[in-house]
Order: sequence, then structure tokens, then C-alpha cells
Amino acid sequence: MLDLTATPPRPLIAASILSADFGHMIDECRDILDRGADLLHVDVMDGHFVPNLTMGADMIRGLRRHLPDTYLDVHLMVERPGDYVESFAQAGANMFTFHLEVSQPMRDAALGGVDMSELIERIHHAGMHAGVAINPPTTDPLPALRPVLDQLDLVLVMSVNPGRSGQSFMPEVLPKAAAIKAELGPNTRLEMDGGLKPANVRSAIDAGVDVVVAASAIFGADDRSAAIADLRG
Ligand code: DX5
Ligand code: ZN
Repeated sequence: MLDLTATPPRPLIAASILSADFGHMIDECRDILDRGADLLHVDVMDGHFVPNLTMGADMIRGLRRHLPDTYLDVHLMVERPGDYVESFAQAGANMFTFHLEVSQPMRDAALGGVDMSELIERIHHAGMHAGVAINPPTTDPLPALRPVLDQLDLVLVMSVNPGRSGQSFMPEVLPKAAAIKAELGPNTRLEMDGGLKPANVRSAIDAGVDVVVAASAIFGADDRSAAIADLRG
């Protein structure tokens, strides 16, 4: 199993299975892992935080059953991430990333805002790594993030507004990514997700990104091996 807390010598490629053929999911996953992807990125959407509905614990369990050694990086675009910690851990998730936008202090506790420190502790207690994701309109996340940065294994900077694959990269998030990177310790990864392609990935890597998420650029490529290699910059 990949050790995500160790600084990788070259950017890791996380293939987002949202663009896979869902009718052939395990074959699709095996194919892109054979062609060089380092880990799988699993996008969970609840129809509330974003309009789309995708997958949940049953998909994670199925992937884990067939891919016992593959790192499963789970990105929860959901209103209530705390409802899924234990079930996702039991299903076999390795990384549990929730959104800053559903957390205090960005959302009041009375409106369901999650206490980040408590949630991260629960995620770790359940045996997973913990990540926090940040949407493009959240332009100044560091004041909210700083109190928990030492607890985090990963910060995910979204480079599209979440909800679906195949959208255009938003370069305006790059300075925010670089500012976050400057405050991360060596064991915390900086991931970017949305619209990344060989043509723009260098700008993300230059900002400090060491985990590159891509869906359409991998699954939609004629030559998936070349696409994965090119995504390392
Ligand atoms: C977007 C998801 C992404 C998405 C990326 O809401 O979080 O992981 O699958 O798709 P591409 O790489 O096609 O932009
Ligand atoms: Zn994602």
C-alpha cells in the first residue's frame, strides 16, 4: 500500500473513477492502475452539497474487495461527512476528505457546521487519513485551516466547482494553493482536483501540488499510459 504521508519523489497521479465506464468499473480501475496511476480517487456526492449523486460505501467495499492493495482516496462532497466516517472506514477507504465549506467556522454549528478537529480525530481513530477540501469561491481558507493543519494528512484545492468531471481548470486557485503549501509540514500532501490535463499540470506542480487528480484526462485519453505519464509534468 502506498504511504501517502511520505513526500513523493514525483507527483502522484490519483485517477478519479467518476469518468470510468461504471458498467466495467473493476476492469477500468485495473487498466489505469496497470498503466501507472498511483491511487484511485473516489468522488462521493450526496445531491445536496452538489446536485449530483454518485457513489458511497458499497462502491468502496467493492473496490477494496477486488483491489486489496490500492490506496482509495475518498472525496466527500456531502453536507454531513460525520455520518459516514465509520462505515467508509469499514468499507476500506484510506483517505477521508471532507469540505471546509461544511465546517466551522465557515458554517455555524447551529446550521450543522462540523467541528474539524473532532472530525479529524474520529477519522484517524477509524484508521483513515484525513483531508480537507476547499472550493474555488473559498478564497481565504487559511484562517479556518490553520488550527487543524498539523492534524491533516492532505489538503485538497478544488480547481473547478465540484459536481462533475470534464470542466475547465480555474487557474485563479493557484496562488491559494501556493499559500497553503507554504504552511504545510512535510507529511501533509497538497492535492488538486478539477480540469487538470498534461497542458496545465505544470502550473499546479509549480504551486506545490504533489497529488494530481484527473478523471477525463485519463479515462478519455486514447493513450491512457501516455496521459498518466504526462500528468506528472
Ligand atoms: C469534481 C470531482 C473531480 C472530477 C475531476 O467534482 O471532485 O474529482 O472527477 O474530473 P476532471 O479531471 O475531468 O475535471
Ligand atoms: Zn474529487
